[in-house]
Amino acid sequence: MRMRNKYRKPTRLSCNAGSRCSISAVVWSLIGCLLILHLYSLVHQKDGMGGEIQFRMTHQPQFRELEEVEEENIQIPPPRGKRSPRAAKRRPKRTTTLVDEFLDENSQLRGVFFPDERTAVDPMKDLGNDTFYYYPGRIWLDTDGNPIQAHGGGILYDEKTRTYYWYGEYKDGPTYHAHKKGAARVDIIGVGCYSSKDLWKWKNEGVVLLAEEKNETHDLHKSNVLERPKVIYNQKTGKYVMWMHVDDANYTKAAVGVAISDYPTGPFDYLYSKRPHGFESRDMTIFKDDDGMAYLVYSSEDNSELHIGPLTEDYLDVTETMRRILVGQHREAPALFKHDETYYMITSGCTGWAPNEALAHAAESIMGPWETMGNPCIGGNKMFRLTTFFAQSTYVVPLPSFPGSFIFMADRWNPADLRDSRYVWLPLIIGGPVDQPLDYNFGFPLWSRVSIYWHRKWKLPQGWSGLTWM
Ligand code: DGJ
Repeated sequence: MRMRNKYRKPTRLSCNAGSRCSISAVVWSLIGCLLILHLYSLVHQKDGMGGEIQFRMTHQPQFRELEEVEEENIQIPPPRGKRSPRAAKRRPKRTTTLVDEFLDENSQLRGVFFPDERTAVDPMKDLGNDTFYYYPGRIWLDTDGNPIQAHGGGILYDEKTRTYYWYGEYKDGPTYHAHKKGAARVDIIGVGCYSSKDLWKWKNEGVVLLAEEKNETHDLHKSNVLERPKVIYNQKTGKYVMWMHVDDANYTKAAVGVAISDYPTGPFDYLYSKRPHGFESRDMTIFKDDDGMAYLVYSSEDNSELHIGPLTEDYLDVTETMRRILVGQHREAPALFKHDETYYMITSGCTGWAPNEALAHAAESIMGPWETMGNPCIGGNKMFRLTTFFAQSTYVVPLPSFPGSFIFMADRWNPADLRDSRYVWLPLIIGGPVDQPLDYNFGFPLWSRVSIYWHRKWKLPQGWSGLTWM
C-alpha cells in the first residue's frame, strides 16, 4: 500500500531561486498565452480583410442573403454646357464628386438619389412578390397613400398594444433659409406618429406633439427647431415620455425638450426644455436599457464630443451623473443599441444636411469608455460607404426574434426640399472581428464588427413576424 507522504514537497519547477522562479514561470507562460492570443487576433483581422464575407457572417442563417455584398456602379455624368477657353483659363474646372451631384438639385443623377413618385412604395397596392420589400431612398407611402413624415425619427415597440410606433419630424412644409447664411429649414409643424404591426405598412396616427402657432416665446414656436424626437415608455409611471432637440433657428439655444402622454398616439404635453447638466445639447437620442434605466446621449461642446447620463426614474429629467465620450471626435446623430451585454452606437460626422461617413462605437458599460471601431457600411461603392449610403443615422431597431440583427434607420436629407427627405433602412448585423485595432484592447478582439449592408431592395427574412417581440 502506498502511503501518502505528508512531507512531500509541492510540485514545482526545480529551480534554485525557489518561489521566485515559479512566479517567473507563471509570468512567462502568461506572456506566451497573450502572444498567442494576440497572433490569433491579428490573423483573424487579416483574414477578415481577405475573406471578408466569410468572417463577417453572423450565426443567423436567415440573414445570410442579406450579408451578401451588393455593388453599385454609378458614373458621374460629364459636365453640362461648353465653357469658353477664357473662362476655363480664369477658373480651372473643379472636378465634381458624387456628393456634389447628390447636393445639386439639377443633377442628372437626381433620380438615382431621389427617385420620383412613380417608384413610390405603396403598401396598399397589390405588390405581389414585392410585398414587404424596403427600397432605401424611394418615396414611402403610409396607408392613406401619403409620403411618411417621420424624419430624424425613432421607434417604440408598445407591449400593451403589441404595435410599433414610429415618431419623427413632420416636415411637410416649404423649405427656406431664415437668413442668407442660415441652414435650410422647415418651420416646426410637430412630431408625426405612425403605427405598424410589421415595420413595413405604416398608418398615420397624426401629429402627436404640435408646434405653437402664436406664442413666440414658446420653445415649440414654429420659427424654432424641433429635431430627432424619441419616445420611451416608463413602466413605473405608465407614461410615454418624448425627448427631442429644441433650438432656435440659428441652433444657439442647444437644448433638449421633454413631453409626456398617457398614450403612444398622444397627444403629448410639452413640459419644458433645458441644457442637460448645464451643457449645450444638439443632436441627441435616448436609450432604455433592459433594467429599465434610461439614458440621454447628446452632442455637446460645439459638437466636439458626446455626453451621456442616466435619466431620473420617471424619465422626465437627467440626473447629476454625466460622462464625456468620444471627446474631440466631432460626432452627431447618435443611435444606440445593445447586443450580448455590449452597447453599440452609430454616429455621423458634423456636416449639416450633407451626408458623411458613419462610425460604429462599442462599450462594455453604457457610461463608457466608448471605443470607435470604424465605418460599418458595406457594399454600394466607395462613395456610398463614405456617405452612409447618402444618409445619416437616426435609430437602430432591434429584432428580438433574430438576436444580433437590427434595422438601421437613416435619413437621406434633401436640403432643397426637406419634406422630400427619404428614409434609408438597411439590415445591420453584429458579427465577425472589427476592422481596426481598438484603443483599449491591446489588439484583442473584444467586440464584434457592426455591419450595415447596402441593398437596393431587401426584406426581413422568412420567419420574421412583427408580433414575436418579447
Ligand atoms: C445635422 C443634424 O444631424 C440634423 O439633425 C440637423 O440638425 C442638421 N444638422 C441641420 O443642418
